Amino acid sequence: MQTWDPNEYARHARFVSDLGQPVVDLLNPKRGERVLDLGCGDGALTEKLVTAGCHVVAVDSSPEQVWAALERGLDARIVDATALGFNSEFDAVFSNAVLHWITEPDTVLQEIRSALVPGGRLVAEFGGAGCVASIQDAFGVALGKRGIDADCANPWYFPTADEYRGRLEANGFTIDMLSVFPRPTPLPSDVRAWLEIFTRPFLATVPEEDRLDLVNEVRLLLEPALKTTDGIWVVDYVRLRTAASKVT
Ligand code: BEZ
Repeated sequence: MQTWDPNEYARHARFVSDLGQPVVDLLNPKRGERVLDLGCGDGALTEKLVTAGCHVVAVDSSPEQVWAALERGLDARIVDATALGFNSEFDAVFSNAVLHWITEPDTVLQEIRSALVPGGRLVAEFGGAGCVASIQDAFGVALGKRGIDADCANPWYFPTADEYRGRLEANGFTIDMLSVFPRPTPLPSDVRAWLEIFTRPFLATVPEEDRLDLVNEVRLLLEPALKTTDGIWVVDYVRLRTAASKVT
């Protein structure tokens, strides 16, 4: 299971919320709007919505991240995205870099739909088809050598534009915009930190004493594709960005 350490996240993955500003801009938050921040993490983007004058409920399944969000003075709650349990309470649902962690996309879209008022909008960005393909491939090779099927440990859902369009429509949304685009992302530190933070489900397939070897091997496999000549690691992120409205 994926778990989060807010301190490590803040040190090595602050870029995730820093790069979320275009999603906030797409939401175009209005003073007085009720917004659900789905997968708020430590609340860095939730704060922006509050500053814009929104009444925000922030939810995340990670207790550690919710505690970090509470320390910012936010209304943050430990809630699983597949069981949100809200009923027509929000003008908008906002979600950055979270929906690719949920492998039941229809369930979460139904929960989002229930949370929204009629006409309410969903504005979200997450990983699209091909996201971190080099990293998925490297785990395929390194775990394959150990007799482990990496696909069984893969925690991510990275849909194509067509697939997600179909799901949104089937779950009662009209699509205002949807695009999938590459966003090569320079890391602030060695890819080792990224692997340790984001790939725990792959790492957990081997005994704890073997994880350092696995990380080292994956890192070596990735070096030719992801490390630039000036020593910066650039990860092959692909984003799916969408704005959709609940059909009334
Ligand atoms: C993403 O934001 O696309 C992402 C983050 C961690 C792992 C995989 C994808």
